[in-house]
Amino acid sequence: MASPLDVDRLRADTPGCSHVTHLNNAGSALPPAVVTDTVVDHLRREEQIGGYEAHAEAADRIEAVRDSAATLVGARPDQIALLESATDAWSRGLAAIAFTRPLRTEDRILVSSAEYASNVIPLMQLAMTTGARLEFIPDGADGCLDAAAFADMLDTDVAIVAVTHCPSQNGLINDVAGVGAALAGTDTWYLVDACQSIGQLPVDAVDIGADFVSATGRKFLRGPRGTGFLYASDRALDELEPFPLDLHSATWTSEGYEVQPSAHRFEYWEKSYAALLGMGAAIDYALDCGMDALSLRIAELAAYARTGLEQIPGVLINDRGVRRSGIVTFTREGRAASDLVAHIKASGINVSLSTPDYSRRDFESHGVTGLVRVSPHAYNTTEEIDRLLVAVAAS
Ligand SMILES: Cc1ncc(COP(=O)(O)O)c(C=O)c1O
Repeated sequence: MASPLDVDRLRADTPGCSHVTHLNNAGSALPPAVVTDTVVDHLRREEQIGGYEAHAEAADRIEAVRDSAATLVGARPDQIALLESATDAWSRGLAAIAFTRPLRTEDRILVSSAEYASNVIPLMQLAMTTGARLEFIPDGADGCLDAAAFADMLDTDVAIVAVTHCPSQNGLINDVAGVGAALAGTDTWYLVDACQSIGQLPVDAVDIGADFVSATGRKFLRGPRGTGFLYASDRALDELEPFPLDLHSATWTSEGYEVQPSAHRFEYWEKSYAALLGMGAAIDYALDCGMDALSLRIAELAAYARTGLEQIPGVLINDRGVRRSGIVTFTREGRAASDLVAHIKASGINVSLSTPDYSRRDFESHGVTGLVRVSPHAYNTTEEIDRLLVAVAAS
């Protein structure tokens, strides 16, 4: 497997590699040591000089995290909000839309069929309380969002479109830029969930044409848990007011309040600055490796896993799409996915179980009740995947 990356260095940088075969990067990746060191160093400064004082001392480095996130997604730093998770990021975008431009009975909301549950549930809440209609965009023959069907569904009554770039439970990659191009010039608000694509694929938020792109720190970016970020388009910054605001996202003036002009308006004052600095270290590490190189290696390892799994009797690969992500999902005839996962984990290999709770529409429309999810990162090796194949074959 030819890769411009120095895999030995990636592994040496990752202490967890000597403890476990970690193929659960779509859950939460093994961080490189620099990430943990950055978090711990900041916590030590908080211990030594006080939390606010450590914050003030690190102010420039905290702003540099915003710069790094902006570089990663091809945006400006003032378009980035530093937050606590992908759900936190995505929800703040949605709350701003719902507050500024309340939905009406005649409005429609279009959402991808493989959308993540934490996005669909609040959209269902909004639809229920406003009378707006929530509709799923069908998948096409290749299993990804059907662009032609989407074009047919588009009309001036579509208030919100939400698409997950790489679903959690399937190796497909939705053409989020194609959806963005179809929406260009409309009044529709467009949210892209890039939780599983940030850190595994190059993501250009401006090219995608979304109003919001949400990301998490702990998955393919390899940052700490409890971190994430949100990209907001210029239109979103010009037209939307987050709800509720706090004294960081707005200023209380004698006349009322003033909203922050930048994407700071989506942030609250209190957060783990240690964790955010760790996310910055993770982003810088990814940028240093190069997103193209990381993406290529992840795709090659995932393809290697699929090819091996396909040769095991009874294994059915669930992934769809012409171009596939680093998320490999499968079942084996006659075995419950939960039992398979338990068996693989007992062999010292971290994988995860995907259930309908994560994306009910996708599971139910394909008659799937549970999937084994394998998600390699660039620091994994073909030898580790061979170990997985042995464990699956013996299950
Ligand atoms: C596609 C997708 N979107 C959103 C989320 C939620 O991310 P977070 O837990 O960081 O809020 C996940 C988590 O697995 C996910 O896979």
